[in-house]
Amino acid sequence: MSTADELQTTINDLIHPDKGILAADESAPTIAKRFSAIGVQSTEASRREYRSLIFSTPDLGEHISGVILFEETLGQLSLDDVPIPKLLESRGIVPGIKVDAGKGPLVNAPGDEITFGLDGLGSRLEHYKALGARFAKWRSVFHVSDTLPSHQAIEANAEVLARYAAECQALGIVPIVEPEVLIDGDHPIERTAEVSENVLNRVFGALHRHHVRYEWMVLKPSMVTPGKDADKASPEQIAAATLRVFRRSVPAAVPGIMFLSGGQSPEESTANLNAMNSLGSQPWELSFSYGRALQEPAQKAWAGERSNAEKTQAALKKRAHLNGLARSGSYSPALEHED
Ligand code: 13P
Repeated sequence: MSTADELQTTINDLIHPDKGILAADESAPTIAKRFSAIGVQSTEASRREYRSLIFSTPDLGEHISGVILFEETLGQLSLDDVPIPKLLESRGIVPGIKVDAGKGPLVNAPGDEITFGLDGLGSRLEHYKALGARFAKWRSVFHVSDTLPSHQAIEANAEVLARYAAECQALGIVPIVEPEVLIDGDHPIERTAEVSENVLNRVFGALHRHHVRYEWMVLKPSMVTPGKDADKASPEQIAAATLRVFRRSVPAAVPGIMFLSGGQSPEESTANLNAMNSLGSQPWELSFSYGRALQEPAQKAWAGERSNAEKTQAALKKRAHLNGLARSGSYSPALEHED
């Protein structure tokens, strides 16, 4: 297959009217934090057990088109000794891989961070592709205050996201471009809107500068919400604010916007996506690429016990199903109480 065909096939497989992505690419420290919340020690074996279990959920492919994996999982065997990427492909789910190497302080920009991982990225991508990855993810974060993020943090992260995306496309791997405007703080929704519009415009400027083809990428942004310590906004307010910002800054050629959950509860993130998809048709598909909002109930149900396998899979299936409904504005909070 040509590189162009590879990219288009992956886009077609990922972006589906009833489906979204499961982000299961928590780094070692992050999964340790999630496991510690349910009293489980994070080891290679416990991570393999949990992730094999959720990827084997019956009919997961009904509402999940792709899974983002962490490097360790991409090379792991399922509990039935099938390579995890093969297991996913056999269930009609596209395997993807987180390729950034985490973040740290941006020098001379107190409070801002920059994401690492460009050095050697091309050869890592080739290796991941050989293991079965067809799309990739790179996350940049932006802290919000009256003064953050600085202009230099926005420009530096936009440039790095664009260089990553260009390298992916050159190798036939669809890039998920993830600029996350963090929810931490007590700022109002208007401040998130201002920062998000600025960030997205700069990111698309950099993508354009690096000749990234918008048709073959996926945007994974945060929704425009108030800071988590501010008064809450309704799903309708969040949907209106988010779409206003996105119409000003995301080219119509981008096929899909697949949101992260970023610390919203599972119910909130489903209701907010549903509210957006209730506002009529948009230039792009509006979907989900949730980590915590899909997995939290499943992790609680699992609690490290193999005997909880069925409950764990049912909890994941329920969130995938409800978010699948939110893709067309067909979700209602009353459905939370049905089994
Ligand atoms: P959350 O939905 O938990 O924010 O995770 C999505 C993700 O992939 C973060 O990089």
